[in-house]
Amino acid sequence: MYDYPNALAVIRATQPDESITLLRPDAAKRAARFFIENFSGKSIYAVKANPSPDLIQILWESGITHYDVASIGEVRLIRNLLPDAVLCFMHPVKSESAIAEAYHQHGVRTFSLDTHDELAKIARATHNAADLDLCVRIQVSSEHAELSLAAKFGADADEVADLLVATRQLADGLGICFHVGSQAMSPNAYSDAMERVREAIIASSVTVDIVDVGGGFPSVYPGMSPPDLRQYFNVIHDAFEDLPISYSAELWCEPGRALCAEYASLIVKVEKRRGHELFINDGAYGSLFDAAHIGWRFPVAYLGDDNTIESHDGFSFYGPTCDDMDHMAGPFMLPADIGSGDYIEIGMLGAYGCAMRTGFNGFGETLRYTVSDAPMASVYSRQENDNVISFEAFSKS
Ligand SMILES: Cc1ncc(COP(=O)(O)O)c(C=O)c1O
Repeated sequence: MYDYPNALAVIRATQPDESITLLRPDAAKRAARFFIENFSGKSIYAVKANPSPDLIQILWESGITHYDVASIGEVRLIRNLLPDAVLCFMHPVKSESAIAEAYHQHGVRTFSLDTHDELAKIARATHNAADLDLCVRIQVSSEHAELSLAAKFGADADEVADLLVATRQLADGLGICFHVGSQAMSPNAYSDAMERVREAIIASSVTVDIVDVGGGFPSVYPGMSPPDLRQYFNVIHDAFEDLPISYSAELWCEPGRALCAEYASLIVKVEKRRGHELFINDGAYGSLFDAAHIGWRFPVAYLGDDNTIESHDGFSFYGPTCDDMDHMAGPFMLPADIGSGDYIEIGMLGAYGCAMRTGFNGFGETLRYTVSDAPMASVYSRQENDNVISFEAFSKS
């Protein structure tokens, strides 16, 4: 069923000269089941994090029936793969033609918005449909998140009451949604945001049918050790129960990263060493965009004989393109004597890594194999009473 047991078996069998993506279906299944069993509402997968058809199929078969799509391309992709899935078009700024196609051709009934302009677009494009769930996105702080999403979208406190009242006129179901920023390192991100929801409901006096707490649920990376996800779910559940909303109101979330970070890793080959710089065959224009552009540290493991390692050192990476910006500062901890011809596995790349590959400079494709071993780290494998997860506790080396 699996192509290989692990990364070492892949390189022994194939001695690859190109980078290779390793897929772990079991990790994605476990993440999906965890959300379905523990989050006390509906979990809507944010397709943006990783749109691979193989992953989408795994999530669907594991019980994820709702998908957060952000473009007409994602709408078409998911509708094509999953004719019976429920699609929620949660980008607050859409073209009118995208809204019309989503509504009339693909059965999309849920849309988000953060301005009166967008509301008018939705009304025109759907011909004032009477069966819409409309979620007003409000601005909340990203202070607890590693990656801010506070600047671009969301109605601010001054405009939200008016917008909620206007949206209530068109919506069959009225929702409020937000995004606390990606990789939120504290459950307080959600309790703080729920306070903004409470204020918006009180200021507008509207009946709210949906509260959508968005994405932001963390995975685990070197130097980023989040509390147990169940703590996040409890905080959200309690805050939801406390809101002035009807008994029939629904709670939604839109996890991206947390559902797929553990799904994929990458095997790279060292083509050259210059001091503490390693020239590898994947990079900023491949699966390592975040490592290059926002300094995200991914875990690494040397794929060789562990017994010969005397000490580790910190290294930076250069990717394969002829571009100075194709540089990942790290530091990535690897054997001090690593060199040309050695292989490295880079873990936790299932979210926003594989999804951002480009073909720049002719380095686009990777071979993909499924493997049956565990991901380098997991937020899903610890015991109920563990508090903080640390990458180091799960590291292979
Ligand atoms: C509207 C929306 N929902 C959900 C997500 C997924 O966020 P995350 O991967 O942090 O869970 C994103 C990501 O940017 C988003 O824009």
